[in-house]
Formats: sequence, C-alpha cells, structure tokens
Amino acid sequence: MLGSPCILWLLAVTLSLIPRAQPMAPQDFEEEEEDNTEWPPVRCDYDHCRHMQVPCKELQRPGPAACLCPGLSSPAQPPNQPRLGEVRIVAEEGRAVVHWCAPFSPVHHYWLLLWEGSGDPQKGPLLNATVRRAELKGLKPGGAYVVCVVAANEAGESLVPRDGIPAFGPCGRLSMPPRPLTLVHAAVGVGTALALLSCSVLTWHFCLRDRWGCPRRATARTAGAL
Ligand SMILES: *[C@@H]1O[C@H](CO)[C@@H](O)[C@H](O)[C@H]1NC(C)=O
Repeated sequence: MLGSPCILWLLAVTLSLIPRAQPMAPQDFEEEEEDNTEWPPVRCDYDHCRHMQVPCKELQRPGPAACLCPGLSSPAQPPNQPRLGEVRIVAEEGRAVVHWCAPFSPVHHYWLLLWEGSGDPQKGPLLNATVRRAELKGLKPGGAYVVCVVAANEAGESLVPRDGIPAFGPCGRLSMPPRPLTLVHAAVGVGTALALLSCSVLTWHFCLRDRWGCPRRATARTAGAL
C-alpha cells in the first residue's frame, strides 16, 4: 500500500528530471561546435552609408561561410526612408554634394527631390542601389532649398515628408550663401578702379612735368646753356 505511491513518486521525479537534465548538455555542446566550425558569425563588410556599396546579399554569395547581413524589411513593402547625411555646398560653382545612408530595406534605385520655397519638387535622375552620393547643380546664390532622398523598389517608394523636416530623416535644408561671386567682382572692380585712378594721376603728373618742365630742371638747363 505504501510502496506503490512511493515508487510512483520516485518514477515521477526521475522522469521529470531526465528530460530537463539530458538535453541540456549535448545541446550546448552541439551549439558550440557549430559556432566554431560551420557558422562563424562574421558580419559582412557592408556599410549602409558608404558610396558605391554593393548590396549585402551580393557580399554573401562568394565563399563557403556566408557572412551576416543586417535584417531588411519585406520586399513586398516600399522601402523605409533613407537618411540624409552631409550636404557639402560649393558656393562658387552653385552646386552641392549630397550624401545619404541606405534604409534597411531592399532598394532598387534612388533619386533626389529638390525644391525652392513653395515651388514644385524637381526629380533628379535615377541612381542605382549602390549610390550614396549625388550632386545638385545650378543652385542660385542666396537660394533656400529643400532636398530629399527617395528610395524605391518594386513595391513602391519611400515616404517624403511634406510638412516640416524631421531630423535624421530623408530631407534637409540647403541655403546657398548670397552671391559670393558678386562680392569678389566688387572687390576686383574697386581694386581696378583704384589702380587706374592712381595710374592716371601719375601719368597726368609726369606728363605735366614733362611738358612744362620742373622749375628746378628748367633753371639747370638755362644755366647749362649759358
Ligand atoms: C551604379 O551607378 C554608378 C554611378 O553612375 C556606376 O558607376 C555603377 O557602375 C553603377 N552600378 C551598377 C551595378 O549598375
């Protein structure tokens, strides 16, 4: 009577202990072995902000031990927004070089949108998925622009915020300095005018002296003649 519950209890305890204890050790061991031989968790040399960066999937192809890529959003959805980076203005040439970082989404191509004030956005040429840098040309001195990067894939294109420009988003403001060329021209103009003025004053002075002679030289000449 007392024996059977005791045996049952022992059996239950043993059974409950066995499944817990048994799989633990071999599983851990197997995982470690896998880490060391088959799956070295090395990240691919992929930088989502690097210009001419090939998609991470293409870096995974060669070699037996594939490297790890960052996770991407579904290809069935439009890409997330790229992040606008540095915008370098070359004021003298009326252009700007725009950098951006790729979203963690499948991207087929990019393009830039540029508008001034309340004007209509102008779409730049299509840029392939490796590109992270593009140039804007023909920017007016003193112009205040908004520039946005758009990413697209088969499912659609990334969103462009139309009211306000969030930090670390796809858009940024671009203010061209007011007329640096005019300032240079003005400086050169004033300099030239001053030089011409001094020249003409000097010429006038020497011409006058040559024509009418210096009083002292005139006296010397008269003395020599005598
Ligand atoms: C992507 O565009 C860049 C710049 O136009 C070009 O140099 C590069 O070869 C293109 N890459 C591919 C894969 O088409």
